[in-house]
Amino acid sequence: MNLAIIGSGYVGLVTGTCFAEVGHNVICVDNDAKKVEMLRAGRIPIYEPGLEDLIKKNVAAGRLSFTTSIQDAIDKSLVVFIAVPTPPQPDGSVDLSYIEAVAREIAGVLTDYRVIVDKSTVPVKTGEKVAQTINRYNKKGVTFDVVSNPEFLREGSAVADLMKPDRIVFGTSTEKATEIMTEIYKPFNAPILVTDLNSAELIKHASNSFLALKISYINAVAAICEASGADVEKVAEGMGADHRIGRAFLNAGIGYGGSCFPKDLSAFIRISDDLGYDFKLLKQVEEINRGQRERFLRKIRESLWVLRDKKIGVLGLAFKGNTDDVRSSVAIELVKEMVKEGAKVRAYDPKAMEKAAPMLPGVTLTATAEEVAEGADAVIVATEWTDFKTVDWKKIKQAMNSPLLFDGRNLLDPAKMKALGFDYSSIGR
Ligand code: UDX
Repeated sequence: MNLAIIGSGYVGLVTGTCFAEVGHNVICVDNDAKKVEMLRAGRIPIYEPGLEDLIKKNVAAGRLSFTTSIQDAIDKSLVVFIAVPTPPQPDGSVDLSYIEAVAREIAGVLTDYRVIVDKSTVPVKTGEKVAQTINRYNKKGVTFDVVSNPEFLREGSAVADLMKPDRIVFGTSTEKATEIMTEIYKPFNAPILVTDLNSAELIKHASNSFLALKISYINAVAAICEASGADVEKVAEGMGADHRIGRAFLNAGIGYGGSCFPKDLSAFIRISDDLGYDFKLLKQVEEINRGQRERFLRKIRESLWVLRDKKIGVLGLAFKGNTDDVRSSVAIELVKEMVKEGAKVRAYDPKAMEKAAPMLPGVTLTATAEEVAEGADAVIVATEWTDFKTVDWKKIKQAMNSPLLFDGRNLLDPAKMKALGFDYSSIGR
């Protein structure tokens, strides 16, 4: 099938590439001419395992192309996916101006029936607004259907999440759109749930908020584990063995970050407020998440007494492992806080250095993980990169001024670290 994807950011680019991989003809659109040039030249603006190879393969096969022209893409495609940014506003609500602008632009160039699919994460009822907008500006009266088709891909495993999804959700009210969408997703061999437009939009917010809730829940349990001498890893294992609960997203740490959870949660709270429901539970989830970073900092302060002029080595700057994304990264927030208190920070991340550098003036970025430890009074693990399990911890210990090791992601084995001579502490263990 011929598909257009408007917006070649994270979601648009990965979605378009995976659609091409299963045999569809995909045109990805972006209004950033430089980005389109870069993609045409085979260079990828983000780090995502497996993506670059798939893009090259599908471009070479003639199934994937890039353009700046919405009109050109829509002329050639039966289905048009909108995957433009929906950034947060200072009051927690979502800025829908990009979606609105794209809806108007689509309306202006429609000449034949099209399915317009919203992929961006949006407040409930946005699909209805998109349909109203297209209707208003669609002077020729061309018929179209609007579908909500939320994405559930995680950065760092986006290609795998898309190629082997747990479920596919789309919301629509017409048979025709249902048939077309089912056809698009048939090659993915995943369960398909068809709902109304509003339910599909809510599934996205409710899912992400629930995952964030799981993380805050286990982080709160971790605090109780610390106070009682229990081990949060064992508690999570015991809880997770119950299939009604599940072990995933019960990893205690310094809190969730990234471009989705913080934004989606505050948006859901705001949407609920607007609809007359005070979602206090989710406000607590946010509160626990903020508190988690503060509790970790308190531990560091308690050990080092004062942070001023202390040398601190930080491993990890990305908001999680396997990505170069530093948006709303708790690791970055931690570093900023320590720098504000006068600490001298050396930091390393396997992929995120380039993106982190402009955010961290005064921080020394090192070429290897081991180098953060030179003369350090403490070393912190701030991102769950598996690479950090296998760094030369012996060398790190030798290079340090004092052997304090704070593992904010429960990545390392406490017994091993203690055997190496570290004064090791982690979260809830
Ligand atoms: C998330 C959702 O998982 C995905 O379905 C959605 O479409 C987009 O938002 P993403 O933000 O890429 O994906 O990353 P995710 O793996 O969910 O992690 C989010 C944050 O939670 C990270 O900061 C991570 O470190 C943290 N996390 C995750 C925990 O602290 N503990 C866990 O057990 C899991």
